[in-house]
Amino acid sequence: MNEKKEVGEKAAEFVKDGMVVGLGTGSTVYYTLLKLGRLVQQGLSIRGIPTSKQTEKLAKELGIPLVSFHEIDHIDVAIDGADEVNPEYNLIKGGGGALLREKIIAKAAHTFIVVADSQKMVNQLGVFPLPVEVLPFGVEMTSKYIEELGCSAKLRLQEGNPYQTDNRHYILDCSFQTISNPAILEKDLNLIPGVIDNGLFVEMADLVITMNASKEIDINLRK
Ligand code: 5RP
Repeated sequence: MNEKKEVGEKAAEFVKDGMVVGLGTGSTVYYTLLKLGRLVQQGLSIRGIPTSKQTEKLAKELGIPLVSFHEIDHIDVAIDGADEVNPEYNLIKGGGGALLREKIIAKAAHTFIVVADSQKMVNQLGVFPLPVEVLPFGVEMTSKYIEELGCSAKLRLQEGNPYQTDNRHYILDCSFQTISNPAILEKDLNLIPGVIDNGLFVEMADLVITMNASKEIDINLRK
């Protein structure tokens, strides 16, 4: 069974006619986008706002009409994947490097839906290295201050060069192993000069769609 496809397609059922929809990035929400593309062909009227250039390109190929922030005053629903989800439905995101735009869109959305296969559900965040988006200027110093918070920080590379986000920043993948207080770490990281934002999404998810042990779709509301 392709869990990503199951949960990704399920999320599309929450999208209704006339909605402004935040379109996430990654291989799970990919299936949401494919489904939305098919629904648009069948007459669904939505306007999408993409979280990355990659998603923008895919949405255009699928015929999903797009808008930018200056054309809207709200986002009804945003749908996105996650790298880890804890029992409180706090998240690590940014494996695909789109965390900053993803967080801006998730925050602006009235409802933020997370699609995550069962492998993403963990008891404690931190085994997946936390992506931190940083300014290239002074990255060596920023990295040192981040490591003082208890991790080992590795500059993300692409073909031997620093990986650049859609915002022309770098990513430091920070291996904490265990993150006991995501809310405090999220804030502490963002206080470091040079840090733009980090992949901790605390108390943001409204709904998490995953698969349970019996391989059934499990829809969870955050309390
Ligand atoms: C991209 C993300 C993705 O949502 C996250 O990495 C999950 O991706 P996938 O669905 O491919 O496992 O945060 O920045």
